[in-house]
Amino acid sequence: MEGNAHRGALAGGIPPTVSDVGEASGGSAIRAVDVIRKKRDAHELSRAEIDYLVRGYTRGQIPDYQISAWLMAALLNGLSRAETANLTDAMLHSGEVLDLAEFPAAKVDKHSTGGVGDKTSLVLAPLAAAGGLVVPMISGRGLGHTGGTLDKLEAIPGFDVNLSVSRFREVLRACGCAMIGQTAEIAPADRLFYSLRDVTGTVESPYLICASIMSKKLAEGIDGLVLDVKTGSGAFMKTDEDAAFLAGLMVETGQRMGKKMVALITDMDQPLGLRVGNALEVEEVLEVLRGGGPEDLRELCLELAAWMLHLGGRAATIAEAKKLAGELIQSGKALRKFREMVALQGGDTGAIDDPTRLPRAKHSLEIRSPRSGYVGAIRCEDVGTACVILGGGREKKEDSVDPAVGIILHKKVHDRVVAGEALCTLMYNSEARAGRAKTLMEQSYQIADSAPAPRKLVHRIIPATQKS
Ligand code: URA
Repeated sequence: MEGNAHRGALAGGIPPTVSDVGEASGGSAIRAVDVIRKKRDAHELSRAEIDYLVRGYTRGQIPDYQISAWLMAALLNGLSRAETANLTDAMLHSGEVLDLAEFPAAKVDKHSTGGVGDKTSLVLAPLAAAGGLVVPMISGRGLGHTGGTLDKLEAIPGFDVNLSVSRFREVLRACGCAMIGQTAEIAPADRLFYSLRDVTGTVESPYLICASIMSKKLAEGIDGLVLDVKTGSGAFMKTDEDAAFLAGLMVETGQRMGKKMVALITDMDQPLGLRVGNALEVEEVLEVLRGGGPEDLRELCLELAAWMLHLGGRAATIAEAKKLAGELIQSGKALRKFREMVALQGGDTGAIDDPTRLPRAKHSLEIRSPRSGYVGAIRCEDVGTACVILGGGREKKEDSVDPAVGIILHKKVHDRVVAGEALCTLMYNSEARAGRAKTLMEQSYQIADSAPAPRKLVHRIIPATQKS
């Protein structure tokens, strides 16, 4: 950092205040300002310094402005692998870590970095549980243009995602899978850090994203985790390189903490499946669990389930695990497991047997192709935003979600279209919202003269390194 005049001028000479002096594990004093300076100057922090920051902030002993400064230094200079693992561990242990030792089966989960039409969690939890694993899934709500697992589950009338930890255990004991939202006890440091990141321009750091996601997932008390890191126009990571970097960080962090890990970099350049919107996506989940559904969704579910079963020791190879996953669907076991979980979490199982009982929008509007050709691209983020505008997600944190609305895609990238043919249908309850969503969807579909080169569904697999 030589030659940086203002940094040199400020270095040293600031007396500690009572609030920013802490005790390191070895008994030596740590000051927040020194930890900030150290990261500002791109040095590696010790475990004790990271613990000091996380503990001090969670207890209200270090103010927002100092943590904000540290977050920006971390964003600009990055964190080492050891720092990332230490930050994850400190945030993980800021709250309750579930002890699921009472369950003899392997505990395995899947986490996706978020996408449009990504409803795989609803298929995977019951599918992996039907294969003998325990799946203690703690999920989130929609974020920005991406959908959230909790919002989708709540489209099933009566489904309760706010179980106490003791009820969560009971459901796991009864059927091997349970799906809930984050409780106040899980990784409270992450909630505090995340809110500050949101308003200080520091969300985008892959190191901070890694610690945030992994601290929450590892609090589930799992043995293994399959990461689905999305890439493309509908993902937070727009390029394969960024996605692979984040995936590598998360795999290594989990591995350092003794977990079995793998990450799949998967395509989110167009929505997954044909339905976007909460109840519409539950319908598509049921199609997949009945052995049908759109090919891309079915294929990705089988691939991710195979990795879960493999990490959980239910199959020696991915090919064998994929075959097992297919059989669990064909035999109806996965669907029965889903039904069981829905019943245990208070949901209307009648809607599982008869999806017409799921919430339905009052109106529909077809969007037609302006010309003949091929679908060259679908701007995926716009589809997610159109769904939010229809009311399927939140524009403001306090907004309520309309479970019935969304978009049904009739054409996907590569499909041939003729002028006037329907590209998609908006399902809506408000004319004003439908007007805005229509404009966005019309812009989203790019019609080309020729079909684009196909993109693979799974771009890359980032395995754990040999030592685990
Ligand atoms: N999701 C999270 O939980 N944390 C992040 O930092 C980003 C996405």
